Amino acid sequence: MCGIVGYVGPRQASDVLLGGLARLEYRGYDSAGMAIVSDGNLEVGRRIGKLVNLREAVADTPMSGNVGIGHTRWATHGKPTVENAHPHVDCSGRIAVVHNGIIENYVELRAELAANGHILLSETDTETVAHLVESYFDGDLTEAVAKTIKRLEGAYALAIVHLDEPDTIVAARADSPLIIGMGDGENIVASDIPAVLEYTREILVLEDGDIATVTAGEVRVSDVSGAPRTPETLHVEWNLDAAEKGGYDDFMLKEIHEQPRAIRETLLGRMDADGTVQLSELQMSEAQLSLVDRVFIVACGTSYHAAIIAKHLVEQWARIPVEVDVSSEFRYRDPIVDDETLVVAITQSGETTDTLAAVREARRRGAKVFAITNVVGSRVTRESDGVIYTHAGPEIGVAATKTFTAQIAALNVLALKLAQAKGTLDQDRIEALWAEISTLPDIVEAILAEEHEIESCAREYTDVVSSLFLGRGVGVPVAMEGALKLKEISYIHAEAYPAGEMKHGPIALITPEVPVVVVATQGHTYEKVVSNIQEVRARGARVIAVATHGDDEIRAHAEHVLYIPRTSEDISAIPATIPMQLLSYHIAKMRGCNVDQPRNLAKSVTVE
Ligand code: F6R
Repeated sequence: MCGIVGYVGPRQASDVLLGGLARLEYRGYDSAGMAIVSDGNLEVGRRIGKLVNLREAVADTPMSGNVGIGHTRWATHGKPTVENAHPHVDCSGRIAVVHNGIIENYVELRAELAANGHILLSETDTETVAHLVESYFDGDLTEAVAKTIKRLEGAYALAIVHLDEPDTIVAARADSPLIIGMGDGENIVASDIPAVLEYTREILVLEDGDIATVTAGEVRVSDVSGAPRTPETLHVEWNLDAAEKGGYDDFMLKEIHEQPRAIRETLLGRMDADGTVQLSELQMSEAQLSLVDRVFIVACGTSYHAAIIAKHLVEQWARIPVEVDVSSEFRYRDPIVDDETLVVAITQSGETTDTLAAVREARRRGAKVFAITNVVGSRVTRESDGVIYTHAGPEIGVAATKTFTAQIAALNVLALKLAQAKGTLDQDRIEALWAEISTLPDIVEAILAEEHEIESCAREYTDVVSSLFLGRGVGVPVAMEGALKLKEISYIHAEAYPAGEMKHGPIALITPEVPVVVVATQGHTYEKVVSNIQEVRARGARVIAVATHGDDEIRAHAEHVLYIPRTSEDISAIPATIPMQLLSYHIAKMRGCNVDQPRNLAKSVTVE
């Protein structure tokens, strides 16, 4: 995810910006840049690749000045190029903007600005902000920013400078973090705490809708109407390592907690005001989509579990048969794929060798291939016909968490789009489903708030050697993902089965030493799942059930119940996954495992 640093004070701003951006490097990025207010000029430097490239450019041609803004960009709109790197400037070259997040309505804004004579040079959503501020500026930068953000839909953290107010940075946020490190005679705007720790531990936390006017000696915060606000301040004790992890013990836990935002950002802009599901990346008309009569999904590992969830959604909503294959099998098994088949490749890294080979094989057979990935510019994006991006931000923990739930969010959109094109769901149903899907970030937030209960459940299972995970319907891939998470980070043997399969063999494994985790959320097979629970309990198993709030009956059948809010069955996969992630995480931590870097595993699997 992108990083922002802005400095105003007595030091050379370029030094503080380069140092602060370096502290945010762990978040991943593909270009870097900064703008310095320098003796009546705005100097802008941008480079693709690592920060060292920008550092070298500044060493060659120093950018001198005490006020500036800097940015590391993780590409979302447009490729990682110099033109798309931040800061972006307005037509006059007097205003510079850095931005994290996604401006949902940027296509309309670009068209409006271009019609009014503005010349936009990049492919980014961010550049619209510089031009909007230009058009609203009438002698007061804070006011111009307030007018600008009223026009923005989506998520943003912004830092903006204007040569007409050379001692000021104006910062604003909505749904994207932004803090201000308050020093003695200097202030530092940043998207994350590590960037400011070298200078101060006094942090002012901006809230959604806040606009901060920052000078060396003062930080004034107001809301969008200009009314003053007194934001929360905190004194941070963390060391740098803890700060990079946002105060969490590990990247994995931080990333589990980032899921509400990852899902929200992945869903942004996917439903037009007229009720059309927006998936223009497919580059297929409604008419072409309506002719799709077979979908094939290829993926590995956790992404494969997302693929099975997609099978449920697409078959349920769009009534199109979906075949799902592990990429390493697909490439060698002469699959029945032709130019009538829509192939979807799911890979968070975009670099998984087996999935790339499957993509090539599918295209060789004439199929159109769409990739779902989290990494802009990754290999799968270059080898596919179209790309749907998840907007989870970089995932550093080796075990996939937020990229998985963001994939499911994107797949919900794909399934709805196919249903709309096929006419298999009426418009009211599509809108009702969308309304429910839109609540997923809040639902995940509510589950995360109950982490302590999951942690205390985990405490009772740290000595386990083997475990089973069961579910039915969409609960099967959720159980598979739960088992994969547990085995890969805690090294406890874990197997997942459709609950109805138990009696065909696996039930022989049940003893009091083998706990069974069951996805027992409300749905049309709920009673069947309860019967399966009784079967394993009759053989002495301890049961941990993931169940729906209000289901008191389940308590009679399980040692532990991890409750999640009620949703319709079709969209229950994301909520049901969260307790599984936390359970695995806490068991692994209590066993002393390195959850961020489990043994034998790599984040990108670039070997066969
Ligand atoms: C498990 C995990 C792996 C990946 C798999 C595919 O937590 O992360 O199973 O899901 O290696 O990776 P991508 O999605 O990058 O193709």
